[in-house]
Amino acid sequence: MYVVVNAAQSVDGKLATRRREQLRISGPEDFDRVDRVRAAADAVLVGVGTVLADDPHLTLDEEDRRVERLRNGRPGDPARVVVDSTGRTPTDARILDDAATTYLLVSAATDRERRETLADAGAEVIVAGEDRVDVAEGLDKLADRGVDRLMVEGGGEVIFSCFAAGVVDELHVYVGSLVIGGRDAPTLADGAGFTEEFPDLTLTDTAAFDDGVVLSYAVAADGEQ
Ligand SMILES: NC(=O)c1ccc[n+]([C@@H]2O[C@H](COP(=O)([O-])OP(=O)(O)OC[C@H]3O[C@@H](n4cnc5c(N)ncnc54)[C@H](OP(=O)(O)O)[C@@H]3O)[C@@H](O)[C@H]2O)c1
Repeated sequence: MYVVVNAAQSVDGKLATRRREQLRISGPEDFDRVDRVRAAADAVLVGVGTVLADDPHLTLDEEDRRVERLRNGRPGDPARVVVDSTGRTPTDARILDDAATTYLLVSAATDRERRETLADAGAEVIVAGEDRVDVAEGLDKLADRGVDRLMVEGGGEVIFSCFAAGVVDELHVYVGSLVIGGRDAPTLADGAGFTEEFPDLTLTDTAAFDDGVVLSYAVAADGEQ
């Protein structure tokens, strides 16, 4: 599976404010770029923290892109994926509507009753991991369901876990012209953090969009020089 991480951050590396409220960091040109990246993906993944904070829908904005996908024999919108160990995704979350397939990656810590409730609400529930979702195992199970190209949209906890699992192939970061600050504000990669064996990034492109820049990186596979 090919994994592309895309996020928008402030100059100081924050994805949102310390209140974890959705914040407009980029602008229309970058929204269009993100829509293009989404349209190329078989599935778009977020953490349950993002679902609880933003209630995203994660479908395409541009109808032309949906039509083009359908013309190519693909679903109109990419599938949606939530990484959610204990099944905290609300049953009325927008991501569970019938606009696209939604996979909930849960761990064995989600009891059967909750899994059934989420399935009734529209999710295809996939168990990966014991206490917490095992990202690598979850991605393997998504690959079994035909997901070859995955876009990871955040937030910071999930992005870190994707890097820690060594599954990321590309990173695109929009850096908006603002400072958010706050030691408790989410950053591009939170989690426990690396102290060694940092991900190996190569800058492949820079582009100006709106009042900011997009930095694009190739990420070497584990063990690759
Ligand atoms: N600017 C941007 O581009 C952008 C994009 C997305 C989100 N955001 C912002 O980011 C914030 C949310 O980010 P976040 O870091 O708090 O949450 P997140 O990464 O969206 O979700 C984290 C949650 O996912 C669950 N999870 C399950 N297995 C995991 C694993 N293996 N690794 C990591 N997480 C796992 C955990 O909850 P359980 O333990 O309950 O499973 C964890 O708390 C919001 O403020 C949102 O607005 C910004």
